[in-house]
Amino acid sequence: MSPRYAHITGWGMAVPEKRLTNKDLEKMVETSDDWIVSRTGIRERRIASADQSTATLAVDAALRALAVANLHPGDLDLIIVSTSSPEYIFPATACLVQDQIGAKKAGAFDLLAACTGFIYALQLAAQMIKADSINNALVIGAETLSRVVDWNDRNTCILFGDGAGAFVLQASEEPGGVLTAVLRSDGSGGDLLALPGGGSRHPASMQTIHDGLHYIHMNGREVFRFATRVMSEATLETVEAARLTMNDVQLIIPHQANIRIIEAAARGLDFPMERVMVNLDRYGNTSTASIPIATCEAIEQGRLKPGDRAVFVAFGAGLTWGAALAQWSGPLPSRKRVRPARYRWLARMRSLLARLRRMIEGLIWGRGKTI
Ligand code: UT7
Repeated sequence: MSPRYAHITGWGMAVPEKRLTNKDLEKMVETSDDWIVSRTGIRERRIASADQSTATLAVDAALRALAVANLHPGDLDLIIVSTSSPEYIFPATACLVQDQIGAKKAGAFDLLAACTGFIYALQLAAQMIKADSINNALVIGAETLSRVVDWNDRNTCILFGDGAGAFVLQASEEPGGVLTAVLRSDGSGGDLLALPGGGSRHPASMQTIHDGLHYIHMNGREVFRFATRVMSEATLETVEAARLTMNDVQLIIPHQANIRIIEAAARGLDFPMERVMVNLDRYGNTSTASIPIATCEAIEQGRLKPGDRAVFVAFGAGLTWGAALAQWSGPLPSRKRVRPARYRWLARMRSLLARLRRMIEGLIWGRGKTI
């Protein structure tokens, strides 16, 4: 069998329209635009409106990615949603996406590796394609961290924003696509960045709410130290795994957490900042969504072209970190024109019919039992 490659053939992003600037934050907590810009590089972030959620942003990004790939949702075999702010504890946000885009033959699940989640999801989907288990996958990073941030905590509320980004991955015999990846973790640092409430250790109660356990808790200084160490290490490891050097890499697309962390990583690699994608000034830290969002903007700005090699690199809660190297390709050639946005309506109809069928079957089954 000839080798199979997992190409990134579609990309899309979705961010809420509402902007929260540093000036707005000055009115909410004791901080200043100067402090936030000099310590993080962030100037504003997007905040989901009442009718938006992790699933709605994920669906918008997914449909845009499918449009670029020119792929019908019905042809997807797998949907992975990486998120730390899922719609519910369960069902998985990925299943809501599956239903809302009408991906009728796709398996769907959520993956939690915090801000590193998109790298984990990308590698998982790519490996399944390379192993010939599937042909087409949708990988989404989506967050509404504004819903779990303590807006009175200046250590965290200045950092995070909402948004989603998606990649379509497709099998091809042409060399390229996701080449290598490294995935790492160190659970001994789990307490440095956590949302402790609402799980099995601290089930939701008046007490957990009183204690603020349903909010993000972070030791910023320690996370910062860890991040500056692992970002350059992981980047080098994934590039060396492909038997390449940093000279073979055209662009680094890092997790958009803090400009000082990104600059330290670039310094550690002796890599010019002009070849590092940065857009955290406008979106803040959107956790696992930050890499696909930054990728979409890099493409829009002409900074990532077919044939280029890009490294995606991230760190986050867990602790987790990782990097992936990809050779950029673009959509696979296709004759038919697909308009995935239209399938949203069809998906809604299909979903309604499925619910109706279950209701009728339930009624028939119920009557059968009483006879
Ligand atoms: O996706 C992963 C998510 N997490 C991260 O990426 C976090 C990584 N860490 C960081 O980005 C940085 O540690 C922060 C931006 C969170 C903080 O920057 P820092 O340079 O590490 O500041 P610090 O925590 O060492 O605090 C310095 C001072 C403190 O005052 P004192 O104790 O020196 O008097 C803080 O209380 O700055 C104070 N401070 C603030 N002042 C104004 C902390 N937050 C703020 C604020 N505005 N928002």
